[in-house]
Amino acid sequence: MTRTAVERWLAQRRRLVDRALERTLPARRSQLRAAMRYSLLAGGKRLRPILALTTGELVGAPTTTVLPFACALEYVHTYSLVHDDLPAMDNDDLRRGRPTSHKVYGEGLAILVGDALLTEAFALMARAPGVAPARALAAVEELARAAGEAGMVGGQALDLAAEGTAASLARLRAMHGRKTGALFRAAVRVGAIVGGARPAVLRRLTTYGEQLGLAFQIVDDLLDAGDGGGDAARGKSTYPAVLGVARARRYAERARDAACAALQPFGREADPLRGLATWVVAQVST
Ligand code: IPE
Ligand code: IPE
Ligand code: MG
Ligand code: MG
Ligand code: MG
Repeated sequence: MTRTAVERWLAQRRRLVDRALERTLPARRSQLRAAMRYSLLAGGKRLRPILALTTGELVGAPTTTVLPFACALEYVHTYSLVHDDLPAMDNDDLRRGRPTSHKVYGEGLAILVGDALLTEAFALMARAPGVAPARALAAVEELARAAGEAGMVGGQALDLAAEGTAASLARLRAMHGRKTGALFRAAVRVGAIVGGARPAVLRRLTTYGEQLGLAFQIVDDLLDAGDGGGDAARGKSTYPAVLGVARARRYAERARDAACAALQPFGREADPLRGLATWVVAQVST
């Protein structure tokens, strides 16, 4: 797929996800609800829900069946961003092009926004219609483990511990694999699990998700370094900080190639997944 074709596809999928998210969280006369909507409906790229929908469709699941799980992934991701931006963590003032949750609503409510989004994510999956209970349960466990100590939260803890230190490449890789890789991995797996993927297919898609997640966080680090973001000032352990920009870029390219190699047995139906991996890394290539 050409870059324009990938972008058109992403935009179309994003609209679908945005509409579904809006339906799950209608406006209400409550400050907590307003704050939840402020962060959730702020126009992220929606890559994790899009991945779940795409792998679900790849194995034959109807889009509407996967949608509640896709929304749950975006709830968990958004919660992670709201907490990531807090003064006790990255202390960022801007997110998705506007002031961060704690800047608008205060730290207390921002913490609660994260708590509520995380919890509601599980309610969304629990009441998803038309999924066999065993599959739904497996998908729930998948997301829970990816978000928890073994995944995103564990990775965020490593990220905090590594601040101001010169992390080794192995440490960096473990940190990125958990703080960002785990949710990408879960995104592709949740779609495939809901769709009843065979084990061999699930294994391939898992490798794709892990490698894409790695490439994605390296690109995020490179973009931060490129636009003078806060990572360097905060002494964050990032790929460009440890490897330099050129080698970090090559690392991202290698992860992209490994992601695409995992899709080798699939035909044209996996083109959007290939296109997405290429598109992610193209943001930092010349
Ligand atoms: C940002 O994720 C945080 C990282 C894991 C690097 P995204 O770049 O996917 O954020 P949104 O959802 O598009 O805002
Ligand atoms: C975020 O990593 C990973 C999360 C689990 C939220 P970053 O701290 O690099 O994400 P940005 O750059 O603030 O979006
Ligand atoms: Mg962070
Ligand atoms: Mg951050
Ligand atoms: Mg970053």
